[in-house]
Amino acid sequence: MVGATGALGAIICRQLVASGAVVVASGRSLDKLKALQSDLSAESVDIAQVDVRLDSAINVVIQGIVAAHGRIDALVNTTSVSRFADFLELDDEAWQEILDSKLMAYVRTCRAAIPYMIKQGQGDIVNISGRSARQPLPTHLPGGCANAAVNLLSKGLADRFYDDNIRVNVVAPGPIESERFSAIESSHHQNAAASARPALTRKIGEPSDIAEAVLWLLSSRSRQLTGVILPVDGGSTVCV
Ligand SMILES: NC(=O)c1ccc[n+]([C@@H]2O[C@H](COP(=O)([O-])OP(=O)(O)OC[C@H]3O[C@@H](n4cnc5c(N)ncnc54)[C@H](OP(=O)(O)O)[C@@H]3O)[C@@H](O)[C@H]2O)c1
Repeated sequence: MVGATGALGAIICRQLVASGAVVVASGRSLDKLKALQSDLSAESVDIAQVDVRLDSAINVVIQGIVAAHGRIDALVNTTSVSRFADFLELDDEAWQEILDSKLMAYVRTCRAAIPYMIKQGQGDIVNISGRSARQPLPTHLPGGCANAAVNLLSKGLADRFYDDNIRVNVVAPGPIESERFSAIESSHHQNAAASARPALTRKIGEPSDIAEAVLWLLSSRSRQLTGVILPVDGGSTVCV
């Protein structure tokens, strides 16, 4: 579980543990990881500090997981950085940081984990993208580009590794009650006309809505699905 200390990652971890999984929770901050481990108070949670911008660090973590647990049945990617601003205010460095922390991070973790999944003859990957992949938000264009690329990457990996019994699916959250969503909302006040349509279900989603979708996509109940992009957005995406 990569990005385990985030608003969505923490709940996904909790639900994975509740379902009986052994979880390796990873993120950048060791303090946050320790707090999560103690909060879940489960022996089945290991932690692994990693900066997903560093390919070599990811490889070390993946090798460590295989050494300790013998296999990696599933990989869930949920990293991102919260940086929302108008297009004209974002320089190359900002774009690189956002793409590096999400798109390239997902590329690196998949590239590191898939060879082990091939060897063990099975694997399930769920990548979290977002509604902004299909519905651009003016203050979230780098994140939206990363999400669109994550969708394409995931479909491509699903095609590439179908014969290896590896499924790759995407959960694309709409607005979810979280610090990240509040930050996006306040950035939109600069451009009220660009505010996205609210959820048709008349309420903002909760992190547990995303966790439910992730668990279902990791389970055999969704065994016929791969390369799927599942919006969990309360119907708020305006396009098809
Ligand atoms: N929340 C929403 O409304 C929403 C809507 C649409 C899509 N999404 C997507 O859902 C995913 C999770 O969102 P969230 O709200 O849970 O975000 P969040 O609370 O900001 O959590 C982000 C997670 O990514 C980790 N991370 C960031 N940079 C990292 C790095 N360089 N190395 C390792 N870990 C790193 C963070 O760990 P540290 O804190 O230790 O850095 C944290 O665990 C993101 O991909 C986001 O784009 C969220």
